Amino acid sequence: MPEAKIIPLNSVDPQLVEDLLDRAFEPGRHKRTAYKVREGTDWLPALSYAALDEEDMLAGTIQCWPVALTDPKARRFPMIMVGPVAVLPQLQQQGYGKALMAACLGSIEPEAPLPQVMIGDAEYYGRFWGFTAEYTQDWSLPGPYDPARLLVRCDNPAVLPRVGTLGPWRS
Ligand SMILES: CC(C)(COP(=O)(O)OP(=O)(O)OC[C@H]1O[C@@H](n2cnc3c(N)ncnc32)[C@H](O)[C@@H]1OP(=O)(O)O)[C@@H](O)C(=O)NCCC(=O)NCCS
Repeated sequence: MPEAKIIPLNSVDPQLVEDLLDRAFEPGRHKRTAYKVREGTDWLPALSYAALDEEDMLAGTIQCWPVALTDPKARRFPMIMVGPVAVLPQLQQQGYGKALMAACLGSIEPEAPLPQVMIGDAEYYGRFWGFTAEYTQDWSLPGPYDPARLLVRCDNPAVLPRVGTLGPWRS
């Protein structure tokens, strides 16, 4: 299995990142609900990475975004939205996805980590990283989604609001 070289995403040409996302996802990816959740925010440079293959070509990317869960009393709970995680189709199943997730999650402030949310396969993100849909079933998103794919990862799930709407973080 090749060793992934992980570099900060802000050292990569943004157009190359967009091209990679076009190849990893279906056309119309911009209409996905995940894009609405983070609408108007910029990805977080300290938590966003690229993976390079053995020839130093772009193999995959991960981006994180500042979002908030707003509870019925209008209290806002800041969270980190993880994704998209994308690996070029021909390079999948070679460890790049795991290397990107490890870099990202390993960069989160260990003293006061914000909960991390994502829309993805519970099988992959649960098995390797401890994400779960268990606490998100009464949350809502600004668009259609499969509740089984709305995942959260948090040191202490007791701090998570049971009910809330996920949207962009705006200060
Ligand atoms: C999902 C994705 C990022 C995984 O990256 P990857 O580099 O292919 O995965 P890795 O090589 O790091 O991990 C491989 C392991 O994960 C498992 N795996 C990969 N994708 C999986 C999925 N969607 N569901 C369940 N398990 C999965 C493999 O079976 C393998 O397990 P093993 O180690 O027991 O053999 C990649 O397949 C991808 O870009 N997919 C298209 C875009 C997408 O759907 N992104 C996720 C939503 S944001």
